Amino acid sequence: MSNPPDAAQSNGTALTNRYPAAPEWFAVDDYFTTALVSEDAALVAARESGAATTMPNAEVAANQGAFLALVTQIAGARRVLEFGTLAGYSTIWFARAVGPDGRVVTLELEPANAEIARQNLQRAGVADRVEIMVGPAAQSAQKLIDQNVEPFDLVFIDADKPNNPGYLAASLQLTRSGAVIVFDNVVRNGAVVDPDSDDPRVQGVRAVVDDIASNPDLDATALQTVGVKGWDGFILARRR
Ligand code: DHB
Ligand code: MG
Repeated sequence: MSNPPDAAQSNGTALTNRYPAAPEWFAVDDYFTTALVSEDAALVAARESGAATTMPNAEVAANQGAFLALVTQIAGARRVLEFGTLAGYSTIWFARAVGPDGRVVTLELEPANAEIARQNLQRAGVADRVEIMVGPAAQSAQKLIDQNVEPFDLVFIDADKPNNPGYLAASLQLTRSGAVIVFDNVVRNGAVVDPDSDDPRVQGVRAVVDDIASNPDLDATALQTVGVKGWDGFILARRR
């Protein structure tokens, strides 16, 4: 398990995309991850190369990656759409979860991040089942809509948070009944409860919560998490 709190604090970039975490949270993540989650060399390399992306340390934790992979398999998902690739760490978890006959399409703004991800996917042996679309995710998603691609079974929304509402709208055009939609980073150290927050990422989460709440076709819940990334959480939604 990476990044105990002291190491994180002594590294100028390590906390950038994480929230403050109590040592106990690291210890518990470490305990469960060591016991239950096997990260092979390719996943470790992908996680470590996250430091070279435009958002160091924003990748999901190992136990969260395993959670997402289990959700993918429990849902029987064969086609996964991911908003926000970075180094491809969660992409590898999804690609392995869908299996050799599955498909992952992942949307990444930055060409340099996509290049790092490409190498990580290659190393992980899943490059053949993953397509990285480079450019603004809203444009890439629109391209998929225009191409009338086969619907996705699971969508993971983990890109620029102010655009969450647009990403949900696109996801609803790219999925059908039974599809699962997961949003990362919906708690943000508790800031999500502040309606007057001047953080556009918080407002992006709050706006998409309103959209989900008012959409009769979506059943949803949200779970707070604590761990190596601090205090944050997921929304899990399902299309009726
Ligand atoms: C941020 C984004 C993420 O996807 C993440 O996991 C953590 C932080 C951010 O935008 O700050
Ligand atoms: Mg995230």
